Amino acid sequence: MVCAAPEFDPAQAPEDPLELFIGWLLHAIDSGVTEPHAMTVSTVSGARPSARVLILKDIDEDGWHFAVSAVSRKGAELARNPAVTLTFYWPAVGRQIRIEGTAQADPPRVTADDFLARSDAAQAMALTGRQSQPYCDPAEVVEALAKARHELDQSPGLVPDDWVSYAVRADTVEFWQSDPGRRHLRLRYERDEAGWSSTLLWP
Ligand SMILES: Cc1cc2nc3c(=O)[nH]c(=O)nc-3n(C[C@H](O)[C@H](O)[C@H](O)COP(=O)(O)O)c2cc1C
Repeated sequence: MVCAAPEFDPAQAPEDPLELFIGWLLHAIDSGVTEPHAMTVSTVSGARPSARVLILKDIDEDGWHFAVSAVSRKGAELARNPAVTLTFYWPAVGRQIRIEGTAQADPPRVTADDFLARSDAAQAMALTGRQSQPYCDPAEVVEALAKARHELDQSPGLVPDDWVSYAVRADTVEFWQSDPGRRHLRLRYERDEAGWSSTLLWP
């Protein structure tokens, strides 16, 4: 589904990009964008970027929240270097948002709430603590999952030690609105000690 390009007047944009992001996200949801909360999370792997799609779990004054297993590739990369970029693309409304900043681990309560709100299947898989590790025999996965399910049954409310919820504190946020005539609108916010400032960018 492709909708008509929504209205966007950068001159009327709010001072805080978080507010604009929430407005765009709600608009994407109302417009029926498929999986609007799916985002590309880019981390740093040595000297090169490393990217995958994750689900945005929450947004609040601390930033954009997502959760990972510390044993996974992204978990290890974030532990080494908290620099992170989130990219949203909503084709049906011709919009892209790029959020650059630093991932900060959430308090244990937030991490626990995130884990316990996940489905039984997601909790069991996370509890295996093997994400991104190589394996040879599919039976290993079956066996580890059965063990994890048993552990969860025995200990309701269990949260694995390696589960981490992060909040991304942004220092740069760019909003991109497509235009059929290629005069795409780009509004970039940057944060310094004085707060947020914004500027238009050439398409
Ligand atoms: C739409 C979508 C949503 C996903 N959501 C998650 C998620 O919430 N958590 C997760 O660990 N992986 C999720 N994945 C899988 C990740 O993209 C990735 O394959 C996995 O986390 C391993 O990444 P890593 O090896 O870079 O750590 C999702 C994939 C897609 C396509």
